[in-house]
Amino acid sequence: MTDVPRAVDRLDDLVSLDTGEIDRTIFSDQEIFDLEMKNIFGRAWLFLCHDTQIPKRGDFFEAPMGSDNVLVVRQRDGSIRAFLNTCSHRGNAVCRAEEGNVRNFMCTYHGWTFGLDGELVGVPGKSIFYKDKLDLSKHPLRKVAQLDTYRGFVFATFDETAPPLEDYLGATGRLGLDMIAERGDMEAVPGVQKFTVHTNWKFTVDNVFDYYHPQITHMSAFSVGLIPAPPDDFVEGGAKSDTGANLEVPFLPTDLHNFVVVGEYGHAISGPDQESLEVTAGTEPFAWRHKPEVEARLGRHGGRVAGHPHIFPSTWVTTNAQLSLRVPRSPDVTEIWWFSFRDRNSSADEQAASLDSQIHFFGPAGMLEQEDGENWAQSTLQTKGLKSREIPQLLKMGLGTSEVVKEDGLAFMDAPINEHAQLWTYHAWREWLRNPSWEELRERTIPRDRY
Ligand code: FES
Ligand SMILES: [Fe+2]
Repeated sequence: MTDVPRAVDRLDDLVSLDTGEIDRTIFSDQEIFDLEMKNIFGRAWLFLCHDTQIPKRGDFFEAPMGSDNVLVVRQRDGSIRAFLNTCSHRGNAVCRAEEGNVRNFMCTYHGWTFGLDGELVGVPGKSIFYKDKLDLSKHPLRKVAQLDTYRGFVFATFDETAPPLEDYLGATGRLGLDMIAERGDMEAVPGVQKFTVHTNWKFTVDNVFDYYHPQITHMSAFSVGLIPAPPDDFVEGGAKSDTGANLEVPFLPTDLHNFVVVGEYGHAISGPDQESLEVTAGTEPFAWRHKPEVEARLGRHGGRVAGHPHIFPSTWVTTNAQLSLRVPRSPDVTEIWWFSFRDRNSSADEQAASLDSQIHFFGPAGMLEQEDGENWAQSTLQTKGLKSREIPQLLKMGLGTSEVVKEDGLAFMDAPINEHAQLWTYHAWREWLRNPSWEELRERTIPRDRY
């Protein structure tokens, strides 16, 4: 048996936009994971929290940034800073709580104390033990390189050369966040739901664009009415049982079009096209859009989004005013974080109904994600098999059949259900792993004219 070259040494072979094949090694290889932490999560703008989670001075929220954890802190002057949650003395976490309000952060190991701005302001025994020779100004908490917000969503990057946040997001990423911000005077519901799935983080990302699986994976959600049963004429084809009988599985009709947006740096949006959904299924769930000023701000194409925006590398915006972080912890362990949003001006009943729906779709009590998690865990497990991992992962649906239209800063396709956005994400992922300059990275992730 010849040794297979290490995955990190054959990036060219791992993803192909032309064949729609992905090397399965990337879902359980430790070296790939380490490279992801360095070249993707060590450079990208990453979502930390929402402005309304830390409204008062001294409010803080602990957020993941790749392999690091940062404290996002509201300053006395109202600005926001973020720094690593690790003591500059000997590394202990300076804060053990996930969120809260403080006047300063005192490390529980030896008691070094840091101000809200991360400066070292207190050292026990500074005169007696250190003989006043320790220069406190040299040992603050380590800050992120850049921090900025887009419409209340707080992002940071460890790369001081990263482009400004709005440029990084581009029209695609901004439109994704607008899908929450435009709903009203939005605030985060207190508390973030967090749970762990034994899966590689990339499975949790590519699944957000997968409108092929719900009819099978989420059959139980259909059967208990969590997802409204489609009308009879919504059924086309269908799966066969072991005996060849038609299963009562509602398949999306072939004339339902998806609206797929692919953007620079790997952002994407994919899922049903709203207009097409209205015609084929008679559903129109987005009443909040029907205000002239909202329609104007979303633009000609924003109103077509009835699917899922995703901000590379790991932030998903749902159609239900939620945002999910997929947090890689190891090649086969991913934390899922759920942030839910509500309109401050909606009634208590409306807010309760909205939260009820948010909790029961996704998150630890969410029927859909419990079902998804089983698939992700099994898919990850099978990529560890010596022989199983030789089989390519397939993203071939609709390959080569979709023209790209470029308008209003967006590059989009109008196509039947397909796997374009998943493949786009993996293409960008591979380009990030090569660690090019920001200019090169942008060049390599400019959408081409056909997928
Ligand atoms: S490790 Fe924090 S005070 Fe020593
Ligand atoms: Fe799902």
